[in-house]
Amino acid sequence: MLLIILGLNAFHGDSSAAILRDGVLIAAAEDERFRRIKHWAGFPSLAIQYCLQEAGLRLSEVDHLAVNQDSRANFLRKLSYIARRRPDPRFIIVKLRNRRMRAGIPELLVQHFPGEEFSGQFHKIEHHLAHLYSAFNVSPFEEANVVSIDGFGDFSSTAWGIGRGDSLSLDGRVYFPHSLGAFYEAITQYLGFPNYGDEYKVMGLAPYGEPVYLDAMHEIVRLLPKGRFELNLAYFNHHEDPQVYRFDGGKPVSPQMFSPKLEYLLGGPRRDPSEQLEKRHHNVARSMQAMYEEAFFHLLTAVQKDSGLANLALAGGCAMNSVANGKVRRRTKFQRVYVQAAAGDAGGAIGSALAAHHKLGGKRSFLMDHAYWGPQFSEDEITSVISEHRTSIREAGCLLKAQVNKSELCQRAAAWIAHGKVVGWFQGRMEWGPRALGNRSILGDPRRADMKAILNEKIKRRESFRPFAPSILEEAVGDWFEEEDAVPFMTHVFQIREDKRPRIPAVTHVDGSGRLQSVSKKTNEPFYALIEAFRELTGVPMVLNTSFNENEPIVCKPAEALDCFLRTKMDVLVLGNSILVRR
Ligand SMILES: [Fe+2]
Repeated sequence: MLLIILGLNAFHGDSSAAILRDGVLIAAAEDERFRRIKHWAGFPSLAIQYCLQEAGLRLSEVDHLAVNQDSRANFLRKLSYIARRRPDPRFIIVKLRNRRMRAGIPELLVQHFPGEEFSGQFHKIEHHLAHLYSAFNVSPFEEANVVSIDGFGDFSSTAWGIGRGDSLSLDGRVYFPHSLGAFYEAITQYLGFPNYGDEYKVMGLAPYGEPVYLDAMHEIVRLLPKGRFELNLAYFNHHEDPQVYRFDGGKPVSPQMFSPKLEYLLGGPRRDPSEQLEKRHHNVARSMQAMYEEAFFHLLTAVQKDSGLANLALAGGCAMNSVANGKVRRRTKFQRVYVQAAAGDAGGAIGSALAAHHKLGGKRSFLMDHAYWGPQFSEDEITSVISEHRTSIREAGCLLKAQVNKSELCQRAAAWIAHGKVVGWFQGRMEWGPRALGNRSILGDPRRADMKAILNEKIKRRESFRPFAPSILEEAVGDWFEEEDAVPFMTHVFQIREDKRPRIPAVTHVDGSGRLQSVSKKTNEPFYALIEAFRELTGVPMVLNTSFNENEPIVCKPAEALDCFLRTKMDVLVLGNSILVRR
């Protein structure tokens, strides 16, 4: 009989679900894509519904349910922290309420599926153990150091171990309240980016500055022997604030993480989000990124020295720091680095399911070499959505141009991109993880210096300092970048070769870097064919690729893509085999 395991990340940012059949991933998605609220953090009932539907199963057919949280983990540490620091009683009440919420997950599951039963076994997997499984067990490595670096989960922020074949050890942890994720979040807030998940914006800002605040950063983060680190808690609030992990209608909200002392240390008050960014802010961002990298490589160097291994599998929210990830091979002795498509908390859904599979005696039998684990829609569904919206298409000054085969579609889309048009590209199964990787993407010409301004004016309206990313044929990576490696999930930033930078200004960041996606024919044939057609026309084997959305979660359904096309100034929409154009 086939073993069915449903894995969840629930009541954390980016709540998600994943389903395994005999240890092989069938489907995975973040609930935000269905709920249409960014980083949605509640019970992922819509993602569960999708996973069951994709697997063709009823809830009663699920044998095991796993969640990436176990409040029993590190229990003695928690008790000793409470005894020593005597935090605000409200802090403990919030923690106990969160614990109760997660303990009731099997009951919640049944409540959300009326008339269905669940009689399977429930597994609580320690947060960081789930992160470690989510990285190593889907990696191509037989043997690797496995490291999870995060905000917090189950009273720790960082964990590391070694994966060998079917076994995975958890050898060390950094405990609450010390956390590189908390450090990055606190400074991100100080710089006037208050929303959950804004850290990547500050990472994009950092190259504009100089690391002149590095001494101050050393005052905040102290490196300890054996790769460890600690925070100077005088600059933080998170260890005492009872409002940590608050959810407002499912949207995660962080309270202020830093104390007033940080403002003295950094020579000025926090920036209000409405204020202009100044050189000082750029310098703080750069200094923070430099400090993060110092602590990151301090830890990686120590674990590599102990193991002597050449492979690294990374997970946790900080594994989304693509700038630091791109430097691992230069700054440590690791030769290969694998970061799964949903390295952050969403990945805990597959991590907890894989950990349960291992606990039940299952063998590793799955490699994640693509991110297309979300819903897909048939041509019939797409054409009926278009025909339902016929009037609004006409009223927006748009028209259905043609329905053509895939090869013709790729040729036409490539030609439009080469002529400076902005093309919405909706194909196949939705991406798992935060990046659009050629199935729910907006594409543009990387050669045009004005493309960033055009995209911001037509659709994105995002901060002008943020770079756009290139999607490049995997065989061409070494010709255009200083590193040669497959990066299928846009998890690494590499330096673009100096002589190539003037040819692709729209995807070259201010420091000459690019957060690339290497595109393989094996895992996404239509996207590969589109870029190949663009290369034939222009000699450039890449396109600019940004997520298909407008200040919202990435589109999931054809109707959402069509709606985004109609309300923005996008020039062309390729929806399955249908092409719509703006006149
Ligand atoms: Fe996490």
